[in-house]
Amino acid sequence: QLIKGEVTLKNVTFGYVPGKTVLKNINVKAKPGQKIAFVGSTGAGKTTITNLINRFYEIEEGEILIDGINIKNIKKDSLRRNIAMVLQDTHLFSGTVRENIRYGRPDATDEEVITAAKIACAHSFIERLPQGYDTVLEGDGANLSQGERQLLNIARAAISKAPILILDEATSSVDTRTEKHIERGMDQLMKNRTTFVIAHRLSTVRNADQIIVLEHGEIIEQGTHDELIKMGGRYYQLYTG
Ligand code: GTP
Ligand code: MG
Repeated sequence: QLIKGEVTLKNVTFGYVPGKTVLKNINVKAKPGQKIAFVGSTGAGKTTITNLINRFYEIEEGEILIDGINIKNIKKDSLRRNIAMVLQDTHLFSGTVRENIRYGRPDATDEEVITAAKIACAHSFIERLPQGYDTVLEGDGANLSQGERQLLNIARAAISKAPILILDEATSSVDTRTEKHIERGMDQLMKNRTTFVIAHRLSTVRNADQIIVLEHGEIIEQGTHDELIKMGGRYYQLYTG
């Protein structure tokens, strides 16, 4: 059973090790289907926020709610079903390409695997592999390029029906041409899902419903692209950089 995808962070403060706060009093409210972008310099805490939404770590201060339910009270396998992700480092296992994509939704048909691969612009390189979709990947996809691994992760997210999507530099390793190509696929991926997107390229976050600017673990600005440009603050600086 899938949830609607409302995500709320309330006064979240977090550190990986005692005495070193990485996120300070973070408040975010994402309505179902909204696109929320996190921007800010390296080390600002962007990935950490998504780590917490994924419940990779437990928080001591504040709370994260999905559809009003504290994620501490949501079973981990239910969270996994409800959140699809394409992260900075790719995650593949030693199995066939098909199995790796289908991991996003085990009951998917072969046809759906191909459709997902097409959305991710992965179909053509998969077809060129020695056994196509039946090619066995070495551990963590060592026999693929970093960009190809990202495309498989995108295909896996595309096949999933999870109402929440996390994209952390999801296309950082694909070349500019493929990135142009995949834009429509990414839009399709985000459609009707609450999406948290982290991207250094600010053109990809422009159309977000909310852009959240982080600095040293704190939200310093929050708004739409137009609002933040008008404000003439940190986002404006980053954008006109
Ligand atoms: P970029 O991905 O480089 O743009 O940065 P980011 O904004 O995603 O930063 P991130 O959330 O990864 O890190 C924020 C702070 O937390 C940094 O000071 C990191 O050193 C620290 N940090 C991140 N991951 C870990 C971890 O697994 N353990 C510990 N101890 N610290 C971490
Ligand atoms: Mg990061």
